[in-house]
Amino acid sequence: MNSIRQRLLIGLLAGLSLVLAASGYATYRQARTETNALFDYHLQQTALALRNQNLLALAMGAEDEGGDLLVQIWDRSRGLLYVSQPQRELPFATQAGFADLIWREKSWRLFALHAGDRIVQVAQPLSVRLRMSADIALHNLAPFLLLLPGMGLVVWFGVGAGLRPLYRIAADIERRRPDALEPVPAERLPAEITPLVHALNDLLARLAQVLDNQRQFVADAAHELRTPLTAVRLQAELARQATGPDARAETLRDLGAGLERASHLVEQLLAMARLDANPSTGRIEPVDLLALARAAVAEQAAIADARNLDLGLLPGEPVAVGGDPIELRTLLDNLVDNALRYTPGGGRVDVGVSRTEAEAVLAVRDTGPGIPPIERERVFDRFYRGAAVTTPGSGLGLAIVKRIADRHRARVCLSEPENGPGLRIAVHFPLV
Ligand SMILES: Nc1ncnc2c1ncn2[C@@H]1O[C@H](COP(=O)(O)OP(=O)(O)OP(=O)(O)O)[C@@H](O)[C@H]1O
Ligand SMILES: [Mg+2]
Repeated sequence: MNSIRQRLLIGLLAGLSLVLAASGYATYRQARTETNALFDYHLQQTALALRNQNLLALAMGAEDEGGDLLVQIWDRSRGLLYVSQPQRELPFATQAGFADLIWREKSWRLFALHAGDRIVQVAQPLSVRLRMSADIALHNLAPFLLLLPGMGLVVWFGVGAGLRPLYRIAADIERRRPDALEPVPAERLPAEITPLVHALNDLLARLAQVLDNQRQFVADAAHELRTPLTAVRLQAELARQATGPDARAETLRDLGAGLERASHLVEQLLAMARLDANPSTGRIEPVDLLALARAAVAEQAAIADARNLDLGLLPGEPVAVGGDPIELRTLLDNLVDNALRYTPGGGRVDVGVSRTEAEAVLAVRDTGPGIPPIERERVFDRFYRGAAVTTPGSGLGLAIVKRIADRHRARVCLSEPENGPGLRIAVHFPLV
């Protein structure tokens, strides 16, 4: 039973029925006390009236007291002088006054009066009193019993009317196009439904934001891809037209470099898209930053050599942080790649791992031109490239770094190295 309407209806009717049953029982109890007092008085008065009655007149008149009264009169020696209903005769009561008696499986209330040489005994079946008390209780309850179906109807239609805004909102959402993410109107809604609508609107707003970001990203990506692809097409054309082996070799080399740039851009785009697709890190496991740095330095050593750069790992202790090893490797590769790319030949690039009380720090330091302070905020934006750079790149590296750092609750700090020019980028990971 998963309908608010049904639940309310059944709950309310069950509750009301319980209350009615309890109050019916209370009325019945009250009525019994009152009928007992009344009928006892009646028994007593009848006995008193009969104490001096002429027996003959009694027998002649057969004055039947209301039909359910049984009158018996004895003399002192227990000889029965009179009985009003011979077929229901009761035994002689030895005690004067009121008594309860069970005779032939029937309960009686009786009153015996010793008056001179007579004993007058008036009795009445108890069932008469019970029936009357029940009648009184039922009479009192009857109007309320009629109320039950009325209440049921009121609840049924009242709740139906109260829920109508909910159906309206559902229909409104159902009719929407998939990209219609504007908020559901929240005016004039019942207070119980408003929080749901607010939560829904929050979600819609976040969805709209995500959708916007993705649209922007796809548009930017398409735009960024156009440039290297145009270059590649031109280089291919030049290679086709080149005369002589030397010229052809040169244009083919350019073509290769252009293709490399395009595929690097595609790789960066894919990395970014992958991060966007999974809002939180995949697996979290202990990752030793020193081992990670050693592997990255070893892998990029050849590139550093080719560019005449001194790439090295600073001595340090292993430090483990919780994270996704593949994402952390992407982060470090981007930092080292930047340092190698922007540092002029003959320079140095050092990767270091250290720890403080609460943090593990992974830092890459180079002796290149550094990043001017006014650009430091913007270099983390997608597709942003330094104003002065001439080396090709897609402008996604640091955006990827920032995104991965955020997912690991790490912060990225840019600074100038203490000794000499260049750039130091440090990623501070919380230690668990
Ligand atoms: N080590 C560095 N030294 C000097 N400038 C840097 C360094 N690292 C990054 N920058 C500057 O920050 C900008 C953004 O870097 P980012 O890594 O995001 O993009 P990119 O290197 O241009 O392209 P990508 O890394 O996607 O191929 C760079 O264009 C450059 O101007
Ligand atoms: Mg880069």
